[in-house]
Amino acid sequence: MKGVVFNLLEETVTRAFGADTWDHLVETSGVHGAYTSLGNYPDDEIEALVAAAMQALSLDRDQVLRWFGQQAIPVLNELYPAFFDGPSSARAFTAGINTIIHSEVRKLYPDAACPHFRLRDASDGGLVMDYLSSRNMCALAQGFVEGAAAQFGERVEFRHVACKTKGDAHCRFEILWTAEVDDGRAQAA
Ligand code: HEM
Repeated sequence: MKGVVFNLLEETVTRAFGADTWDHLVETSGVHGAYTSLGNYPDDEIEALVAAAMQALSLDRDQVLRWFGQQAIPVLNELYPAFFDGPSSARAFTAGINTIIHSEVRKLYPDAACPHFRLRDASDGGLVMDYLSSRNMCALAQGFVEGAAAQFGERVEFRHVACKTKGDAHCRFEILWTAEVDDGRAQAA
């Protein structure tokens, strides 16, 4: 996993719980703890940090990953505003995951092993997304999608209708953006 993901995890944990909590996670998970954004580090290290967070927060793996995805989006918006300035809605942002977002990510971070998503427009205006990755981080993808909806001032209904961790061939999400949040942040769709 690219160091930038570890940097993001450190930033989200530090913003929410303080630097001491991050230090505690690094210590209890036994990982090295210093990551350069362009470096590649074993997936085992991110899993060890997630396991330490599960223990510290009494959450399961999916809850930690989902939380991380939700919290990571505002940080990504600060680091890579172009990804968020281009699309006019959370749906457009999410639909550009392969062709725009992760394709640019591979230019910025050569040899990044980004997941692949198979996308199909649903008849109700939503999006059907198949998540294809050996990392089984479907909950992180859910958190990213939910974080993006919040970032665009929208509400989203995320249904995880098939899951590889439950024996299905791959994960499938049915996603519907239902309304704009009326708090003054909503952008025109
Ligand atoms: C809807 C938006 C997004 C979704 C659903 C998504 C999903 C994911 C998931 C689930 C992973 C974990 C790796 C795996 O599952 O194999 C991942 C990795 C990654 N994503 Fe995204 N992502 C989104 C947006 C972004 C954005 C905005 C960036 C901006 C820089 C980004 C950069 C990365 C990077 C650098 C990796 C690590 C790849 C590696 O370590 O080799 N993603 N993404």
